[in-house]
Amino acid sequence: MRWHLIAVHIIPKFVVQRNPVHLMKQILVTGGTGYIGSHTAVELQNAGFEVIIVDNLSNSSLEVLDGIEKITGIRPEFERFDLTEMHKVETFFSKYPKIEAVIHFAASKAVGESVEKPLLYYRNNLVSLINLLECQIKYGVKNIVFSSSCTVYGQPEILPVTEDTPRKDAESPYGNTKRVNEDILHDTIVANPQLKGIALRYFNPVGAHPSALIGELPLGIPANLVPFITQTAAGLRNELKVFGNDYSTSDGSAVRDYINVVDLAKAHVIAVNRLLENRNKAGYEIFNLGTGNGVSVLEAVHGFENATGVKLNYKIVGRRAGDIEKIWADTTFANEELGWKAEKGLEETLLSAWLWEKKIRGIV
Ligand code: NAD
Ligand code: WQD
Repeated sequence: MRWHLIAVHIIPKFVVQRNPVHLMKQILVTGGTGYIGSHTAVELQNAGFEVIIVDNLSNSSLEVLDGIEKITGIRPEFERFDLTEMHKVETFFSKYPKIEAVIHFAASKAVGESVEKPLLYYRNNLVSLINLLECQIKYGVKNIVFSSSCTVYGQPEILPVTEDTPRKDAESPYGNTKRVNEDILHDTIVANPQLKGIALRYFNPVGAHPSALIGELPLGIPANLVPFITQTAAGLRNELKVFGNDYSTSDGSAVRDYINVVDLAKAHVIAVNRLLENRNKAGYEIFNLGTGNGVSVLEAVHGFENATGVKLNYKIVGRRAGDIEKIWADTTFANEELGWKAEKGLEETLLSAWLWEKKIRGIV
C-alpha cells in the first residue's frame, strides 16, 4: 500500500479533513469569477475538489477570489485569459495535465446586447466551447458540464417543461448560442465516445451566498428582475417597472422558476461526480435545474417585501419585448437521476440577494 493511502486510513472518520493536495481531483471552472461560477467554486472546494478558474474578467473582478477564499479557506488557482484564444487554451491544458473535468460557465449572457452585437455573442460563446472541446480531446480531459438555459424552450406549449420538451427557435442570438452549443457538445460526444458531457438547463438563477461574501454583480442597469429589485430597494433605482399585468397567469404578471444560486451550484458538484464516477446513463445528458414552482413577478416583489421588510416602489408598465408569458421546470429527472432537489425557499433566496446588495452598497 502506498504511504498516502495508509495516512488516509488511519485518520479517524469524524475528523473533518481535506484531502492532501496531491489527492484532490482538479476541476477547471471557466467563468469561475462570475456569478454562478463563483458559487460553484465554493461548493466544489467544500466537496474536496481542487478548483482552477479561468476567466478573462470581462464581466467579473478579481476580488471575487477573496470572497471564495473567505468562505472556504482556500484561494482557487486563477488564470486570466480569453477562451477564444486557442493558443492560450492550449498552453493552459499543457500546464495543467491533471485536470479531470471542465465546468464551462464562461459566456456572454446579456440577451439585449446579443441582439445588437450578434457576432460578439456567436464568437465568444461558440469559439470558447469549440476551443475547450478540441483541447479536451487532445489532452484527454474526458468530462464536461455545460451551462445551458431554459431559454432553449422558448414559450413551451405544455408546462412544466421536461427535458424532452422540444426546443424552439431562439428569441435572441444569446439564446441561439445556447442551442447551438448544446448541439456542438452532442455532436462532438457522438464522434468522440471517450468524451462525456452534461448540459444543465438553468431556469432563473437568483440570490447570493448566505455569507454575503459573493453574489451577482451586474454591470450598469440590471436587465434581470432580482438585481433590479435589490437596487431599487437600495435606492440606486427610483422605481421597479413590472413588465405586464395582462398575461394569462394568476395575477397577470409573467411567471418564472427562480432557483437559488447555491442550490444550483450544488447540482454542478453532483453532475461532475456523476461523470467522474461513470454513473452517467448516456454520453450526453441534459438536466433541467429549477425549483419546479412558477412564481409571478408580483409574487417575487411581495416575497421580497415580506422577507426583508423593505417596501418596493414599483409600477406596472407594458410588456417587455421578447418576454415569454410563463415557464417553470419539471425537475423529476434531476430529482430522481441526480438525487438533487432545490432546497431553499423563495423568501430565503430573496433575503440573501438583499443581504448581498446591502453588503456591496455599505448599507447597515
Ligand atoms: P457571469 O457573466 O457572471 O459569468 C460568466 C463569466 O465568464 C464572467 O466572469 C466573464 O468574465 C467570463 N467570460 C466571458 N467570456 C469569457 C471568455 N471568452 N474567456 C474567459 N472568460 C470569459 O454569468 P453567470 O450568470 O455566472 O452565467 C454563467 C453561465 O450560465 C453562462 O454560460 C450563462 O449563459 C449561463 N446561464 C446564466 C443564467 C443567468 O440568469 N445568470 C441563466 C441560464 C444560463
Ligand atoms: C424575469 C421576469 C420580466 C426586470 C433572462 C434570460 C434567460 C436567462 C435568465 C440566461 C420577466 C420581469 C424583469 C424588470 C420586470 N438567462 N421583469 N421588471 O427574462 O426570464 O430570463 O435571464 O440564460 O435567457 O432571457 O429573466 O430576470 O430578466 O425577468 O418585470 O425590471 O421579470 O419581464 O417576466 P428572464 P429576467
